[in-house]
Amino acid sequence: MKQDKKLHIKTWGCQMNVYDSGRMADVVAPLGYAPSDEAEGADMVILNTCHIREKATDKLFSELGRLRVMQEEKAAKGERMIVAVAGCVAQAEGAEIQRRAPYVDMIFGPQTYHQLPEMIARVTRETGGVLNTEFPAEPKFDALPRQRASGVSAFLSVQEGCDKFCTYCVVPYTRGVEYSRSPEAIIAEAENLVAGGAREITLLGQNVNAFHGEGKDGALWKLGRLFYRLAEIPNLKRLRYMTSHPGDMDDELIAAHRDLPMLMPFLHLPVQSGSDAILEAMNRKHKADDYRRLIEKLRAARPDIAVSSDFIVGFPGETNADFAATIQLVRDIGFAQAFSFKYSRRPGTPAAAMIPQIAEDVKDARLQELQGLLRDQQTAFNQSLVGKTIQVLFDDDGRHEGQIFGRSPFMQSAYIDAPAAARPRIVGQELDVTITEARPNSLKGELVIQKDVA
Ligand code: SAH
Ligand code: SF4
Ligand code: F3S
Repeated sequence: MKQDKKLHIKTWGCQMNVYDSGRMADVVAPLGYAPSDEAEGADMVILNTCHIREKATDKLFSELGRLRVMQEEKAAKGERMIVAVAGCVAQAEGAEIQRRAPYVDMIFGPQTYHQLPEMIARVTRETGGVLNTEFPAEPKFDALPRQRASGVSAFLSVQEGCDKFCTYCVVPYTRGVEYSRSPEAIIAEAENLVAGGAREITLLGQNVNAFHGEGKDGALWKLGRLFYRLAEIPNLKRLRYMTSHPGDMDDELIAAHRDLPMLMPFLHLPVQSGSDAILEAMNRKHKADDYRRLIEKLRAARPDIAVSSDFIVGFPGETNADFAATIQLVRDIGFAQAFSFKYSRRPGTPAAAMIPQIAEDVKDARLQELQGLLRDQQTAFNQSLVGKTIQVLFDDDGRHEGQIFGRSPFMQSAYIDAPAAARPRIVGQELDVTITEARPNSLKGELVIQKDVA
């Protein structure tokens, strides 16, 4: 296959977007597009966008301004740069993008990128842009080609969309209603990934533990059952999943954590707030104590499980007491890692109209306090591994001279010192590493058994 055209994709947002960007590259590869790290000189640039917080949209328009200059430079040479906006901003604000940036050639949402070849044909034939933000009847997964090379650690989308309608969140509007792929299609894609060298697969979904795929036998598979089946794939060493909702952690999934060592002891389970009043206003459908009990159950099933979360501070109506309840929850649980955000008012979501909205300086102060505590917990967790021997799956991209990187079972970045010549024998292997040093965001260690690899 001749690949003489340069494709640059820039990705913002969640892992689903990372997955989608990879699939977009797969879809256009047969048209001769090869991935490139730079926008400069590219024949096609796709900005795969995120709409979750206000800043995400601002970033898009500043990036588009830069691309326009490159597009004109190319046009002056008689060449063309196709500029496309994909993802959740495209879905939510497609018409606005067309208006503000008429030089954008294609605008399409997360559910239509399998139609890229037709869209490209149209923009090269005709003048004027394409806006394609339908939710088509034929699911894109049936129309996508096989995933190409994916590396040691691969993503696999099993579920998309969300029906939860948390009052602050745009995802149900940008990604649409919940949709689960069939177990057979997922198993086939997983086998294909492993055949291509993947040793770790992370199942993805906006609400991945709401997965309920219909099997050929008519049975409804939940995520737990899917894990028991995927664990049978030879040469696959690790399974993970994200992102989950506390309301959908069922007993079968918890049992899978107990029974399957290869289901990694790390769970990203966003709680958002520790205050019941705020959780209710957010429409999270659970209380803070439900979350505490759930973590207890998970720890009983898999004692070494490390827990991660997302938090929003400054949600409308959040009082000092509400915020204190969040701090208390964080102290009670002890997180290995977490993300926290200032509430961002998203047009069209119910929370945008709630009162009172919280002042920016209050949000700032709360965020700082929460992040300080979370950082301390993360550092303490990393520190607790010093002197211990853990398994690291090396998935290094080869960018660090003299070091090889991988991941601990708990999702920490972990590295060893090793010469570049050792890389082919180490990358792709899950090896015992004794941790010698902990940093806030990574672990350093030494290989235990060196006879096969060093
Ligand atoms: N489906 C996942 C993730 C959704 S987006 C879930 O249910 O948790 C990732 C995170 O962004 C959310 O967990 C939330 O913490 C944050 N987020 C979403 N909307 C937000 C908003 N309007 N303002 C601030 N943070 C937001
Ligand atoms: Fe958004 Fe809530 Fe759905 Fe997560 S569960 S994607 S936060 S609506
Ligand atoms: Fe962002 Fe869309 Fe993901 S809004 S977080 S890219 S689902």
